Parts: sequence; C-alpha cells; structure tokens
Amino acid sequence: MPVHASSSGWILESRRTAYALGLNSDRLLVHRYWGTRLPDLSDYPPAADSVGWASFNGPGQVVPEEYAAYGGLRYLEPCLKATFADGVRDLVLVYREADIADETLTLTLADAHYPLTVRLHYRIHPDFDLIERWAEFVNSGDQPITLERALSACWHVPPGDDYRLTHLTGRWYDEMHLRRDPLPHGVTLLESRRLTTSHHHNPYFALDRGATETTGDVYFGALAWSGNWKLMAEVTDFGSTRVSLGLNDWDFDWTLDGGASFTTPPSLAGYSDSGFGAASRTLHDYIRQRVLPHGPIAHKVLYNSWEATYFDVDVASQARLADLAAAMGVELFVVDDGWFHGRNDDRAGLGDWWPDAAKFPDGLGPLVEHVNRLGMDFGLWIEPEMVNPNSDLYRGHPDWVIHFPTRARTEARNQLILNLAREDVRAYLVEKIDALLSAHPIRFIKWDMNRNISEPGWPALGDRQQPVLGDRQRELWVRYVEGVYALWDDLRQRHPDVIWQSCSGGGGRADLGILRRADQIWVSDNTEAPARLAIQEGFSLIFPANVMEAWVTDSGDRHVPLKFRFHVSMCGTLGIGGHLLKWTESERAEAARLIAQYKAVRDIIQLGDQYRLISPRMGGFSAVQYVAKDQMASVIFAFRTHLPTPAILPRLYPNGLDPTARYRLEGSSETRSGLGWMRVGIDIALTDFDSAMLVLRRSE
Ligand code: DGJ
Repeated sequence: MPVHASSSGWILESRRTAYALGLNSDRLLVHRYWGTRLPDLSDYPPAADSVGWASFNGPGQVVPEEYAAYGGLRYLEPCLKATFADGVRDLVLVYREADIADETLTLTLADAHYPLTVRLHYRIHPDFDLIERWAEFVNSGDQPITLERALSACWHVPPGDDYRLTHLTGRWYDEMHLRRDPLPHGVTLLESRRLTTSHHHNPYFALDRGATETTGDVYFGALAWSGNWKLMAEVTDFGSTRVSLGLNDWDFDWTLDGGASFTTPPSLAGYSDSGFGAASRTLHDYIRQRVLPHGPIAHKVLYNSWEATYFDVDVASQARLADLAAAMGVELFVVDDGWFHGRNDDRAGLGDWWPDAAKFPDGLGPLVEHVNRLGMDFGLWIEPEMVNPNSDLYRGHPDWVIHFPTRARTEARNQLILNLAREDVRAYLVEKIDALLSAHPIRFIKWDMNRNISEPGWPALGDRQQPVLGDRQRELWVRYVEGVYALWDDLRQRHPDVIWQSCSGGGGRADLGILRRADQIWVSDNTEAPARLAIQEGFSLIFPANVMEAWVTDSGDRHVPLKFRFHVSMCGTLGIGGHLLKWTESERAEAARLIAQYKAVRDIIQLGDQYRLISPRMGGFSAVQYVAKDQMASVIFAFRTHLPTPAILPRLYPNGLDPTARYRLEGSSETRSGLGWMRVGIDIALTDFDSAMLVLRRSE
C-alpha cells in the first residue's frame, strides 16, 4: 500500500522514496519529509508546530505549508490567490477530509467562510519513485470567485538554504542548455509568457547540494503543461527552500462561476540519491511507459526534406530524394513545409491545408504511393495553429485569430495565431487534417508552431456562435492550450496509429503535457552536429532518446565528417535531413553503413538506460552511453570537437553493466566482466571532429 494514513498524517511510499505530510497541532497542512524511504513509519518526523518569528513573521514564513493560500500573515509565494465576489482577497483554508483511492491521496480543504473547496491530489507512482500533484478548485456557491493564481504544487526540499538549481535555458536555435546555479535568497523565477512552453526555459527543476551525475541527493520535477507556466525557487530567511510551479499567473485570471470547477495541470517530482543521471533515467522510464501515447517504442529512421528543398517541394523533387533515401535504408519519408495550397515561401498558405495544385496536380497520392512502393512510410508537416493573412482561410475568417480589435495584428514569420480555444476553429482544422489522414496512408505528422503570441485578445465581436467572454479574456492562456490538446486528442483518436511529432520552431514545445499527444519532439532547428551536443545533453535531463529526433544535415561546418554528424544524431531517433542529391555516392554509401549500424543498436539507444559519461560542457570532448534494459549490450558514443593538440582524452568509464557478466568490445578481442569495464575503463584516441561508437556485448 503506497499511501499510509495515521494520526500524524499521510506517508506516500514508493520503491525507494517517501513523502510525508500532515496536520500540525493547529490543523495546518504541513510538509514533513521527502527523501529515502525509511524502515519504519514511525521514523518520519511529525508536522512542525505553527511557530512564527517575532511580530513580523507568522508561521507562514517558518513552517513548510503544503499548499499555502494567500491570506493572513503570509509573505512567501503562495500557491493560491483568489478574490471573492464581495472583494475579499484573503483565503483561510481549513482541512476537511482525506480520501485514499488506489495510489492517490486526495486532501480536501475549504475556505472557512466562502464556498470554495480546494482538493489537493497526490498520486504516487511506486515503481518510478515519482509523485504527481495537482489541485482542483470548486465553487459550490452561486457568486463567481476569481482565481488569480492557481499553482499545481509546492515542493519542499529538506531544510537548507544552500541548494543549486539545475534548469534548462536557451533561445530559438540554441535551446535546452543545462545551467546549474547556486540559489540566492529570495525568489528565482523561470517562466514562459509566450503561449507555449518556449525555447527559453523549460518547466523543469533539479535541486541539489553537491550532487554529481552518479552521486548525491537530487530533488527534481517538471510541469505537464504546454502553455504559460511559472516556476519559483524560493529560499527563505528561515533556512528553507521550495519550488512552486504551475500555470503562469502573469496576465492571468480565471472566473470560477457558481457550481464550476477548475483543475490545474499536474506537476511530477522525484528524489534520487544517486545523482542527476539516475534522476534523468527515472524520468525517461516514466515518460516512455506512462506518458507517451504509443509507450516505449523505438522509432524508424526518417528522412525529412526541409533543409534540402525548403519550400521548393513538388512530386519530382521529393520522389528523387525518396529514391536515394530508400536506397540508404531510410524507413520513413517526411515532406516538410511547402506542400500545401499557395505555399511557395513563408508569406502565404498557412491555414489552407490541401495540396498545392501546381506542385501536386494529382494530389499527394502519387508521391505517397511512390514512397510506399520504395518500402518507406510517408509523413507530412503541418502547422495547424497558424494562418497567413495571405490565405483563403484568413480571407474567409479574419476574426478567427487571436487579436484585439483596436490594435494592429503583429505578424511574426508573416503569420497570425488561430484561436484554438474556439470550437469552430478546431472543427475546421479537424475536417482538413482528418481529410488528409483519411485519404492517404500517412503514418507520421510533424506538428509545427512557429511564433509566439502578441495582442492576446479574444473578442467575441460579430460572432454569435461563440460565447462572449467579456472580461474573461485572460482565460485565453489556458483555454488556448486546452484547445490545442483537444484538437490533438481528437485527431489522435481518429488516427491512433499515426506517430506525431511536436515541433515549435525546434524545441519550443517540449514538455510532459504535449508528450501525452506527441510521440517525439523536434529538439532544435540547429542541426549543426557540434552545437547539437550541448542541446541534446540538456534535452536528456528530462526526455528519453526515443523522444528526441535528430537529423544529419549539411548545415554548418562542412569539415565536420559525416560520421561525426551521424554519431551525434544516432544518440536519439536518427533522421537524415541533408540534400541527398548533393551527397556523393561514397557519402551515401557511408550513410547506408551508418544507418545499418544504427538499426542494429537503436533499441538500446532509444529504449535503454542513458548515462551521460562526459558532458560537452567540459569542452572539446564528451561521451554518452546507453545500456539495454536487460544489460545484454551497451553503446557508447564519444565526440571530440576542437581541442588544442596534443591532448590526452580522459578515460571513459562505462556504467550500468552487469558487474558479473562478461562483455566483449565489438571489433576487438577484448573481453572483460562488466565490473572490469566499469573500473578499468576504455581509452580512446580521437582527432579534432572525430567520433567513435563503441559497442559492448555480453559474450556468454
Ligand atoms: C520550423 C521547423 O523547426 C523546421 O524543422 C521546419 O519544419 C520549418 N519550421 C518549416 O517551416
């Protein structure tokens, strides 16, 4: 039984970890413990008493409240802030009851005076050592209540004000960089105000005090949401640290009508006593087994024509690329942007989701059939949320975009954002995309989203089909994302076998919310292999390799050898995006060899355990390892970018092998026990921009 209840509160136990909370003597809901699972339930500490600090600080500053609501003497970041119909902006949440069903604990609190009920849900994932939390608000009265902040969770780490925060930051073409900064006293804020998860920060955190990849305590978590989010790491003046996260309250409020309820997205968190690597592997396993729509599957080798032909797409050009791709061993051929009505550049066409008659006079059929005849699946790019003003859709429905009527509609990449919160907009998109997927055996869809928001309005002017939202326009931030999810879910349900990829100009929408719909993420538009190393490392903090699609392209420095470019992309789901017509015959032959090598080990890479052996942040040399779940084999990739010579590369120490089993290094006669390889290590010699793939296989 993973949830234990007693007079001192509740203890959530997973295989190796535990989380305890309870009511203190003032019946305040207080955090008690998070960390290693202890031998006995009586080992967990009681809920701390409600002590304050002089007249200036009530218990709210000193006691770790599980889910603080703004009210009374509270000055730290609360999880909940609301205004009642009479203008009162003070919440007094009183514990009412607990309910335990399966692996979920639900605690119900209610305001002492007003008809607001708050339900805090804790779902334990015992096999993954993870806890999922979310909150639900119910207005049981008849007057509206305005929610001004409604976070998913506050995660308290053990007392201390000396934590480091690990997080991912970046920008378009340069996303997912791992940063590890000491947390200052006060609040460190990470957020998105862009309508999507964003390239800039990711709703992920890890807190530690001196952990490494393989050792030390790490508390980590994420938010399953693909819109505006907010993460506050707060170090108090009373020696404590917490992370609160959820929907961003910037420019947000939500009117909870009488009888209505509102549920936050879930936040997932866990504790590792074996460093950052174990924390990542926990997330990888959970994502593969519990989040991804198709579960733990390894993906096909793909070709995508974007960087080869850009908008210059037609049957002949794509068919020629397909011939070459198939001959190299590619299994899935994807036509990117440029195939639909009026799309010759990025100034027109978005919204008109039918094949361009000039480029595809007989529709997509002939190309799809050609690709299928070559033995490959066919895939297609779409950008459903967008519209170019120069499109039939926009000319017919200029009111369908997010806008304020008195403001100019700011374009980015010549496009505007359709208001996916509207049912009629979604119905149009379902019809168009469903028609494509029904007409052809399309097995893969890349769903793109190439701008951030401006003028976040939802005027209901002139449209009697839609409810008038009036002063509820700030709900757009949430309703839009719910609309994206609804559209995606609808299409998935109609076409359950299609593999979907989430792309937002690269990694602008990479989160646990979208991964309930998308099987893969396009990590970055930056496909230059040396630059990719750090981007991919950051991505691996959260996401498993089968989620990460990576192409070999012609982008960047042409002196980076093809093998190096392949090896970088082989660290995830291998894709090719180079202009194959410009590749020499020997390059294509080498590519075919590398694709065959990849296919032989892709299950290990995509579905195995990942170990970041040497970080690209160390500069010049890095290595990453994958171990099959059954420990029968392991693959190591090592990369040298630029190092002043002569340089002695650090020895690689594999990890995760069965210590007693014997492994042979493929291509050599060297055989050792797993422990032997892990303790003795492997020396490797590489020149600049050289790389290696080593395979260890169990020899008995
Ligand atoms: C941005 C994506 O990240 C690229 O891979 C490509 O699909 C373009 N959009 C197409 O417009």
